[in-house]
Amino acid sequence: MASSSLYFLLIFLSISSFTLLSQSQTSSKLNKFVLPIHQDNKTNLYVANIYKRTPLLQIPFVVDLNGRLLWVTCEQNYLSSTYHAPRCYSTQCARANTHYCHTCFSKARPGCHNNTCGLMSVNPVTGLTAMSELAQDVLSIYSTQGSNPGPLVKIPRFLFTCAPSLLLQPVLPGNVQGVAGLGHSPISLPTQLASHFGYAGFAPTFALCLAPNGVIFFGDSPYYMLPGLDISLPVGYTPLIISPLGEYYIEVKSIKINNKDVPLNTTLLSIDRRGIGGTKLSTINPYTILEHSIFKSVIEFFTKELSGIPLVKLVEPFEVCFNSKSIDKRTRVGPKVPNIDLVLHDQHVIWRIYGSNSLVEATPGVSCLAFVDGGLNTRAAIVIGAYQMENNLIQFDMARSRLGFSSSLLFFRTSCNNLNFTAIP
Ligand SMILES: *[C@@H]1O[C@H](CO)[C@@H](O)[C@H](O)[C@H]1NC(C)=O
Ligand SMILES: *[C@@H]1O[C@H](CO)[C@@H](O)[C@H](O)[C@H]1NC(C)=O
Ligand SMILES: *[C@@H]1O[C@H](CO)[C@@H](O)[C@H](O)[C@H]1NC(C)=O
Ligand SMILES: *[C@@H]1O[C@H](CO)[C@@H](O)[C@H](O)[C@H]1NC(C)=O
Repeated sequence: MASSSLYFLLIFLSISSFTLLSQSQTSSKLNKFVLPIHQDNKTNLYVANIYKRTPLLQIPFVVDLNGRLLWVTCEQNYLSSTYHAPRCYSTQCARANTHYCHTCFSKARPGCHNNTCGLMSVNPVTGLTAMSELAQDVLSIYSTQGSNPGPLVKIPRFLFTCAPSLLLQPVLPGNVQGVAGLGHSPISLPTQLASHFGYAGFAPTFALCLAPNGVIFFGDSPYYMLPGLDISLPVGYTPLIISPLGEYYIEVKSIKINNKDVPLNTTLLSIDRRGIGGTKLSTINPYTILEHSIFKSVIEFFTKELSGIPLVKLVEPFEVCFNSKSIDKRTRVGPKVPNIDLVLHDQHVIWRIYGSNSLVEATPGVSCLAFVDGGLNTRAAIVIGAYQMENNLIQFDMARSRLGFSSSLLFFRTSCNNLNFTAIP
């Protein structure tokens, strides 16, 4: 009797542990996602091909870190059996935080219905906005275990807006059809992933790894790059600040070059209640923008620290350029030039910018300091641009309200181009 119940117990245990294992396997497949991105070589913007609609179609979107939602033009060739525009005052409209009822005076089509809700879409490059129809349709994204892309996973009713085509003009890359926003807002891509996959233990976190063939990870680390390195390990943290517009800011307290303080008006460096001042991160600005007085101080200091290297004729939009040949031979992290340190909330927490992220070969043989002058009265005092984030892992952790940053992955002999793109079925 005793032995048979023990036998029974063992069978029961092995069955239940098998069940547990397969459950955790399924849910672990649904709590991390990866989106390959590439850099458009004309505009320097980052583009992601996102699977949408029924049947699934890959559509190119510009990636906007601070964008509030995903918008796409629907005027032409929007063929999908699963398109739906929610009625005004529906729960979807409430989720998107719109109470505006849309009227459209042309023929009914995706993007043009009456009594649906309207929402503003923004072109982040031109700043132009246009009233657009809130819509829902399928969106699919690669699941991952942290390294290779795995099977596509579907969100059947992803909310986005259908914007007029004119919003694409004139500066988005050629074949792009919309903008994918990653901002801290109700229907951005990370927010909808979190609400859809929260049950599977999805962490409200995403990480940018920008490079010509880079990736964005959604969900918690670890993230791996070839040759099998966990790129989320060498990370420093600083509080993540969300502006009134849902944009991502961090606190930069001072700037050091060659370990020496650059004199700055520090009043500009803190963000006030209206969202003026402070340091924003942006994937739309290719190079870091500094308020005029900060810019002047930084370029003066950098040039002084690099004395002995002859300046050459500047290449727009930069103001300090050197003859590439006279700069020391390349180190693992790019040309050997003074480090630029962003000193964050604590004087021991430093985002160090090495040569690979501070100098850019603007034309053959001419290397320029990859920062631009924002002029006076800029909204943010510093906008950290894409070039300075390239080949750094930048993790936006909403649960802990913190930003993790790795510094240059080149140090660790890998880069953001090094995802193992071999898909696992
Ligand atoms: C720019 O990108 C396109 C498409 O990815 C490619 O065909 C072309 O060769 C690239 N041009 C340069 C100058 O790298
Ligand atoms: C919306 O209603 C207006 C009249 O109020 C009508 O002229 C228009 O054709 C309708 N639009 C659609 C897409 O049905
Ligand atoms: C520093 O910047 C603040 C804000 O723009 C300005 O009001 C103040 O006059 C500046 N201080 C100096 C010393 O320039
Ligand atoms: C990339 O991933 C595939 C599938 O897991 C694996 O077979 C291959 O060895 C990986 N490539 C490298 C260079 O590690």
